[in-house]
Amino acid sequence: MKKLGILISGRGSNFEAIARNVQAGKIPAEIAVVISNKEEAAGLAIARQMGLKALAIPSKGKEREAFERELVAALHEHQVDLVCLAGFMRVLTPYFIREFRGRILNIHPALLPSFPGVEAQKQALDYGVKWTGCTVHFVDEGVDTGPIVCQAAVPVLDEDTPETLAARILKEEHRIYSEAVGLVVEDRIRIEGRRVLRKE
Ligand code: GAR
Repeated sequence: MKKLGILISGRGSNFEAIARNVQAGKIPAEIAVVISNKEEAAGLAIARQMGLKALAIPSKGKEREAFERELVAALHEHQVDLVCLAGFMRVLTPYFIREFRGRILNIHPALLPSFPGVEAQKQALDYGVKWTGCTVHFVDEGVDTGPIVCQAAVPVLDEDTPETLAARILKEEHRIYSEAVGLVVEDRIRIEGRRVLRKE
């Protein structure tokens, strides 16, 4: 059984959706550890309530590499096979990427390559697109640039605010993140260049 390490910074609703699907036997994996770079992250409390191993490794005031060395050590200690970034608001350095090359997933609240970086939902609204959505992708050295595993589209409505749009996208995030984790842990995909393809 593959072991997941989930990294969060806040609310943790994507983590929770994955954890519920793991519990329900819909994702054949085990959550080995949930780590937040913020002690006060609501997601840590949810993880503990669910009986999962939950750690805070504060990033504040630390050199980027020193923080990541702690993170990598904790993930290795828990024998993590796949790292899932779930609202983890830190850009990872090449050191971290090397340690888990091809084994890091991220969820982004836009249809990449549109609107990478922060406040993706507000970026989409301000730009005036009629459709946006969410993307689960492998993480490489760029910001939100790695090969795409799953995407889902949602309409942008005239009356939307960043909050109402974010809520509509979030529902799809919860669905496609679990789908993507399932595809990876069941070894049902292969990567050709930038393209993530289903195995026969
Ligand atoms: C989600 O919308 C996720 O896509 C986004 O943060 C939110 C976290 O919510 N991530 C990013 O913007 C990454 N750049 P959650 O803590 O409830 O899962």
